Amino acid sequence: MISKQIPDAGGLPWVGQMPQMTQDPLQFLLGLARTHGPIARFTMFGKSFVLISDSEYVREVLVTKANLFPKSSRDLAIMGPLLGYGLLTTNGAQHKKLRKLAQPAFHAKRITTYADAMTDLALSLTDEWRDGETRDINVEMLQLTMYIVSKTLFDTDRSAMSGMADQIGHAIHQLQEVADFDFTWYDLVPQWLPLRVNRQRQPARHMLDQIIEGMIAERRPDGSNAHVEDRGDLLSMLMLAEDENGERLTDDEVRDEAINLFVAGHETTSNALTWTWYLLSQHPHVADKLRAELDTVLAGRTPTLHDLANLPYTQQVIKESMRLYPPAWVLNGRQAAADCTIGDYEIKQGQVIFIAPYVMHRLAQHFPNPEEFQPERFTPAMEEALPRYAYMPFGGGPRVCIGNSFAMMEAQLLLATIAQRFELQLDPAARVATQPMITLTTKYGLPMQIRARQHATDTADKQRAVPQPSVDEAELVLA
Ligand code: HEM
Repeated sequence: MISKQIPDAGGLPWVGQMPQMTQDPLQFLLGLARTHGPIARFTMFGKSFVLISDSEYVREVLVTKANLFPKSSRDLAIMGPLLGYGLLTTNGAQHKKLRKLAQPAFHAKRITTYADAMTDLALSLTDEWRDGETRDINVEMLQLTMYIVSKTLFDTDRSAMSGMADQIGHAIHQLQEVADFDFTWYDLVPQWLPLRVNRQRQPARHMLDQIIEGMIAERRPDGSNAHVEDRGDLLSMLMLAEDENGERLTDDEVRDEAINLFVAGHETTSNALTWTWYLLSQHPHVADKLRAELDTVLAGRTPTLHDLANLPYTQQVIKESMRLYPPAWVLNGRQAAADCTIGDYEIKQGQVIFIAPYVMHRLAQHFPNPEEFQPERFTPAMEEALPRYAYMPFGGGPRVCIGNSFAMMEAQLLLATIAQRFELQLDPAARVATQPMITLTTKYGLPMQIRARQHATDTADKQRAVPQPSVDEAELVLA
């Protein structure tokens, strides 16, 4: 069979498409797919990359030929030293082993036990919100999802959390900053240069190691594996998990896995929610319909896991928001382990392949009027008819997001809990722009005005109702 020629985006010699890719990767990759079709080649600093944007090709790379397309060695070389060697950052046998041992921690039964912690934390965080004030919703969502991942991963309580989660969160954000820098400059800027990012590598990693190693040691009072305390959290699951030979993960493996989960498990969900609040503020009819569903189904009650099946529109809103703004806007690069094919195209060993959910989700052949926010499009019939990898916020194949059910449950519960109590309106002075880093975040945050809703709440919620200033406090403020 004669292999077809992959269309080439051209560009300057050696530099290739680097300027476009660094300036606006979202529009560059989308433009590439729209101009050249389902497979296209581009160059950056002399290296060749192939973008695929056809659901069948995606299936080949992520599923049927997954063994031929491990994560790229460059991506792993960047992420491994920063985040440790866990699910996100390993390939092959080590990845397989970690996945098998971590999987039970994400079984439906286990993750449903976290639902109440999610709504409790949403209520306690938003108890601090005052009617009429403006808050950066990106920061609020990040803090909330970080507390949730701390609680579910390490069983920390709220008071311990605000210190510890903040410390871990700070270290992780420093490491993410380094990783974002490295994804562009890794082979070009040496790590000994006295740059801020280079100075924060070691201390941030060291701090994380210390905190998490401390937690692991605390759960083995006598230092042995025989007496690991099961606190019902993910860390316990990881420490107790055994393979078929009775082997457990080493402490270093548990530590690195915990860091990987912490990293993968909060900024993604927080960005999904941040963009959802933004989209709702721009589409009041959607926000009205969402609130109508919440008011009818919940009648002021805090949502529980059992309510989710009766909140289909809430789920449609989340799905449509992740279609337009998929938190993982591009997957880690995949690199051909041997000469092979994708469709009728020949792929040489070493070739790096990009798959971008952001691009896939904006293809008009699957999503008519792709730039429009229309939660109603996600009907069961439409989902049934959609090719399997046309919509892929959680990736696919053996490396599909291990936390996808956790994340969907979390996003729906948090949206329902908060939208029931508050309306969030975009601050008129806000500047809104995408910032595609490791996840798709907002460049200038998301300042929003908070309006407490007047709806009836049940007794439990009344005790937690948004504190309104008493007459005296109000006078004090006015004075
Ligand atoms: C809306 C929220 C989330 C989104 C959009 C998301 C998206 C993704 C995507 C696209 C991948 C695949 C990356 C690739 O193939 O290169 C992935 C992997 C992963 N995610 Fe998520 N994720 C979310 C939440 C979570 C949560 C809550 C956790 C854990 C608590 C988590 C843990 C992981 C892990 C460990 C991996 C690596 C899996 C592997 O390679 O075996 N994610 N995620």
